[in-house]
Amino acid sequence: MRVLVTGGAGYIGSHTTLALLEQGHDVLVVDDLSNSSRESLARVAELTGRTADFVEANVRDANALESAFASFRPDAVIHFAGWKAVGESTQVPLTYYRENVGSTLTLLETMARHDCHTIVFSSSATVYGELSEPPFTEDAPTGATNPYGRTKHMVEQILADVAAADDQLRVGVLRYFNPIGAHESGRIGEDPKGIPNNLLPFVAQVAAGRREKLMVFGDDYPTPDGTGTRDYIHVVDLAAGHLAALDFLTEHDGYHVWNLGTGRPNSVLEVVNAFGEAAGMEIPYQIVARRPGDVASSYADVSRAHAELGWQAHKSVADACADTFRWQSANPNGYAQD
Ligand code: UFG
Repeated sequence: MRVLVTGGAGYIGSHTTLALLEQGHDVLVVDDLSNSSRESLARVAELTGRTADFVEANVRDANALESAFASFRPDAVIHFAGWKAVGESTQVPLTYYRENVGSTLTLLETMARHDCHTIVFSSSATVYGELSEPPFTEDAPTGATNPYGRTKHMVEQILADVAAADDQLRVGVLRYFNPIGAHESGRIGEDPKGIPNNLLPFVAQVAAGRREKLMVFGDDYPTPDGTGTRDYIHVVDLAAGHLAALDFLTEHDGYHVWNLGTGRPNSVLEVVNAFGEAAGMEIPYQIVARRPGDVASSYADVSRAHAELGWQAHKSVADACADTFRWQSANPNGYAQD
């Protein structure tokens, strides 16, 4: 299959591009490199012995997208490109609506012009908010509590509307829980710019001595050890979920939603301990106040993805910590040249 991957140089995009190439698919990555690096794709080529085509462009650039579709003629699109920091989205909401919602409109219009009828979209478990209790099934009520989350929720609704209006369209919405880990080679991984917002990259930088200690945001949640619990899914398992969704969509039209998670909650302190084990050291941390906007617990009901896609997560938090530590140790500055 010929697959156009937006945001394919980023963290989840690069691992998915690798999996697509390994399975024999042809890939064109469209990425503006605003939060990613071409070096990730050079390493994907080194790991797979195959090269993804690459266009440096923002997905909102209708002319660039038009010529990419005309020359590559994709059978399907996987749409990762987007901005993803919750806090930042409250400061620059228009940027989030333009980049995340606007880009998807341009992409869907271009797909329609080029008879491309299959799209897999990167959504987020953030759409479950605090509207119900975990484990969340795909039928749980959805909404969002910040502009980033609203962009994901809006794009889901847009895709559902477009699929209802066009019976040729095949849409797979993937609601990711908390992606962590790196490829086991240690050659590709997560390379956040600035101070990491997310738990695993922050812990990895503490282990590497780049930061003094982790701030644990609250230990008074109604969870077994009082710290927040999340469903941490290894990025290699997550990438495999995209291929399973594409396979499903070759056989089924319409609009489909799947959770991609492990179905198991882990607390902040469990993750800290697992990373300490992987790194062979104690991770220094301090309990501080809750982070505004955090929920106590979020984890998936994964039965639909298992039943419909034949997909499930195989890797553990311990695997993800070992892989992240390997990536971080071998690449202390991420993809930047030393
Ligand atoms: N945490 C800390 N210290 C840190 C960072 C995180 O204690 O320095 C804690 C958080 O309080 C939370 C857990 O670690 O309990 C996970 O936090 P992350 O920031 O890694 O992940 P979130 O669950 O907050 O956010 C993720 C995605 C968002 C998405 C959200 C809801 O990063 O894009 O899930 O689905 F919106």
